[in-house]
Amino acid sequence: MLTANEIRDSFKSFFESKGHQIVPSAPMVIKDDPTLMFTNAGMNQFKDIILGNQPIKYARVADSQKCLRVSGKHNDLEEVGHDTYHHTMFEMLGNWSFGDYFKEEAICWAWEYLVDVLKLNPENLYATVFEGSPEEGLSRDDEAASFWEKFLPKDHIINGNKKDNFWEMGDTGPCGPCSEIHIDLRTAEEKAKVPGNQMVNKDHPQVIEIWNLVFMQYNRKADGSLEGLPAKVIDTGMGFERLCMALQGKTSNYDTDVFQPMIKAIAAMAGVNYGDDKQKDIAMRVIADHIRTIAFSITDGQLPSNAKAGYVIRRILRRAVRYGYTFLGQKQAFMYKLLPTLIENMGGAYPELNAQKELISKVMKEEEDSFLRTLETGIRLLDKTMSEAKAQGKSEISGKDTFTLYDTFGFPLDLTELILRENGMTADIKGFEAEMQQQKQRARNAAAVETGDWITLNEGTTEFVGYDYTEYETSILRYRQVKQKNQTLYQIVLDKTPFYAEMGGQVGDSGVLENANEKIVVVDTKRENNLPVHIVNELPENPAATFVAKINKEIDDVMQRIQNNGERIEQE
Ligand code: ALA
Repeated sequence: MLTANEIRDSFKSFFESKGHQIVPSAPMVIKDDPTLMFTNAGMNQFKDIILGNQPIKYARVADSQKCLRVSGKHNDLEEVGHDTYHHTMFEMLGNWSFGDYFKEEAICWAWEYLVDVLKLNPENLYATVFEGSPEEGLSRDDEAASFWEKFLPKDHIINGNKKDNFWEMGDTGPCGPCSEIHIDLRTAEEKAKVPGNQMVNKDHPQVIEIWNLVFMQYNRKADGSLEGLPAKVIDTGMGFERLCMALQGKTSNYDTDVFQPMIKAIAAMAGVNYGDDKQKDIAMRVIADHIRTIAFSITDGQLPSNAKAGYVIRRILRRAVRYGYTFLGQKQAFMYKLLPTLIENMGGAYPELNAQKELISKVMKEEEDSFLRTLETGIRLLDKTMSEAKAQGKSEISGKDTFTLYDTFGFPLDLTELILRENGMTADIKGFEAEMQQQKQRARNAAAVETGDWITLNEGTTEFVGYDYTEYETSILRYRQVKQKNQTLYQIVLDKTPFYAEMGGQVGDSGVLENANEKIVVVDTKRENNLPVHIVNELPENPAATFVAKINKEIDDVMQRIQNNGERIEQE
């Protein structure tokens, strides 16, 4: 029997033998694409090549890509752990052709790899083809069907609709019709009762999609229309964990050697056996799955936090901690102790795990500790709330209580709902959303700024003299009053200024404006429309007078700035 590591290697060798360049996995965390937070498919790293915005380096490429489907268009989070074949992070084996081969080779090689190389039984395989979509002006993919007919009887080739057989990266971006390969791993008895072609795409855990061959021909634009791509592209993705399940004769991804070492480590830690108790098994699967996501996200530069991608990772970590806490008796941080098992299992294929093990361990432990503290208090509060509701004959807890758990105790809504479900109760979701809206409004009010009109004393724009001078004679061009959080400040624009306005939320220069009669303190300098605006606590008595603007910074700082500016100019 092939091990998971051998299977991954065999995929790469096969496509290498077909002239493909083997490339490393891209990071799972995406920093520079506003349409995606995480890599959700192998093709993400090739998006610009597919759209024709970047030159083609290799016409044929293959790899094993770390993917995460927990947000946006492709989101499997709720299923994970409860079923046996969805994951947050998974590995996608893929091969690509950028304007080189197309449907025929993609289909023939997929077949050759699965049946001739890996020896999967062809009787268990089914292929789906796109049935067409009149509203998009697209017809059935007869071409793909004709290639499948070389290998499969007609009743193993199934038409599929736009949802299943027209693959799109996101709301916009590359897309096209696809053919999926499904495998039927049920027993002979079950197959005799209902043939496999009736079970495809029916959410049966043993009749599952293993490989998706996408024939990319379009770019979905923001207005929903389809535009042709500069070249036809093959984009395939095979679920590595599912392939391992099929090849190792298992009926659950978690029974393969991809997850078993981790499941065993969790079971040993909790003093339980996998397979004895449904609820505990789910908890072990959740942890075995989520620990991979958390570890790989941290190595790829995404730490848990309160916003966007960081919050997604924090929620996944909390989901795992909570399952461990409730079903496996883990009242102390425990996930970080499982890291060596993960590294032993996956560190060969992904050396970044080993390189960053101290960081992963430290971040995980800190996050676990802090969540466990709030969890204890929150669970007590939720228990109390549930008892009170029950005593009043209610099976629903209020939106306000649900929101308090979320806001004060860091309970994601899905966690509260999960605990409630286990107790035969529900939450008032509408009420929860209303509370959330109110809180957002409160936050907006607190940050609201009231600005007066600009009072113009002299027309003109600011000249920045700070690269050469730390003080300079100047006069005020215009000023206005600003009220924020009950504080009154003034913004001042000077005709010449040595005060540098930092961008990106850093502190700008401070200093004074002075003349023989008065001295005004400049507390900060911000950039507005690319010009420095100075913040002062009080207006000069005579705003029209001439002042000397002096910055507080040490002279070294200014020298540094001059130097940096010089370097910047040279680079340009
Ligand atoms: N991009 C295709 C998918 O993710 C292969 O299914």
